[in-house]
Amino acid sequence: MTTFAGCQAVLTGPDFLVPDREWCERRIPEGIGRPAADFFYSSMLATNHDAHDRLRRLVVRELSARRVAALRARVEELGAELLDAFAEAAAGGAVADFHELVALPLPVAMVGELIGVPRADQQGLSLLGDDAVRLLEPVRTPEDWARADRGVGGLRTYFAGLLHERRSRPADDLASALAVGPLTDSAGLTDDELVDVLVLMFAAGFETTAAMLGMAVHALLSHPEQWALLRRRPELVPAALEESLRWDAPVPMTERITARATEVAGVPLPAGASVIAVMAAAHRDPEVFADPDAFTIGRPDGRVLSFSAGAHYCVGTALARLEGVVLLRQLLHRLPRLTPSGPPTRRTGDGLRGFTRLPLALAG
Ligand code: HEM
Repeated sequence: MTTFAGCQAVLTGPDFLVPDREWCERRIPEGIGRPAADFFYSSMLATNHDAHDRLRRLVVRELSARRVAALRARVEELGAELLDAFAEAAAGGAVADFHELVALPLPVAMVGELIGVPRADQQGLSLLGDDAVRLLEPVRTPEDWARADRGVGGLRTYFAGLLHERRSRPADDLASALAVGPLTDSAGLTDDELVDVLVLMFAAGFETTAAMLGMAVHALLSHPEQWALLRRRPELVPAALEESLRWDAPVPMTERITARATEVAGVPLPAGASVIAVMAAAHRDPEVFADPDAFTIGRPDGRVLSFSAGAHYCVGTALARLEGVVLLRQLLHRLPRLTPSGPPTRRTGDGLRGFTRLPLALAG
């Protein structure tokens, strides 16, 4: 499905469900018995109805707009620290990697702190997370499975330890809320299920956001007239972030299965059909966006499906947007002379867009 209305109908309609464990067993038998498949197909992203509500309820409150707004000062502090390190690396006209120095460590630190991961452990965990997100590939190769198994296995071991620790010494973080919180008791989750909630929150929370930050900066700098407009009118920062989420969405597509015979956009579908909602294509739908291929901040028609819609609407939306808005504002003030310096390197695969290297410099 490539139109905006079609994607919205698929993501929000009651006839469409996410592929679940039963579907995995029938359609991708090579996943059976693998830790990565066991994790993914029992997670929020691959459960429906009551099984999904039971998991989602545990985390939505922790990531509500109000809770996230309280994190603003911390995002500002970390952003300033990382931009200083970037400016130092780029001193004297040197080329520095914005992805490595800013776009990746900011969300790793934010989601790490939200969960309760000490800073010293964050980078190692992000490497495991990088392996785990191969699960987002629409068609997983044997190498994707092997990497995902490795990542999920390592993250499960780490978060089992953290949960154990928080049980005896609770702190003010998500791991403690899950370890000793009243919600957990009422939902009756096993320890293995709680560990997997933390694994999902960590893995889903940083790669996507790092991708968004890098792609927003790249989109702005590769459209100098838009960057100049933003420098003149910094109040357009939230709109600039939305336009970058439209123009280059970190998660370009997602899959649904028809629960019964239905139709979408006039196309009849049998029960059990697989439908791919291609949000990246919906974002270029000329029925919704005038001149859709142009990167234009402050569009009147700016609304995005980058965080999906419906029952699985991303729970980290407020945090991701906060990080994006704070960082872009800081860039305008601290590094207004930022400029591209050589071609960036894109991630491989189709499940998640973004950069693995974004070389930038400070113009003289
Ligand atoms: C720019 C950053 C982000 C993007 C583009 C993004 C994108 C998405 C998308 C597209 C989905 C739904 C997939 C579907 O409908 O099949 C999703 C779900 C989810 N996201 Fe995000 N996400 C981002 C940041 C975050 C952050 C910061 C967190 C956590 C701190 C997070 C946690 C989750 C979780 C737990 C789900 C599962 C929700 C459910 O299935 O009910 N995400 N995200």
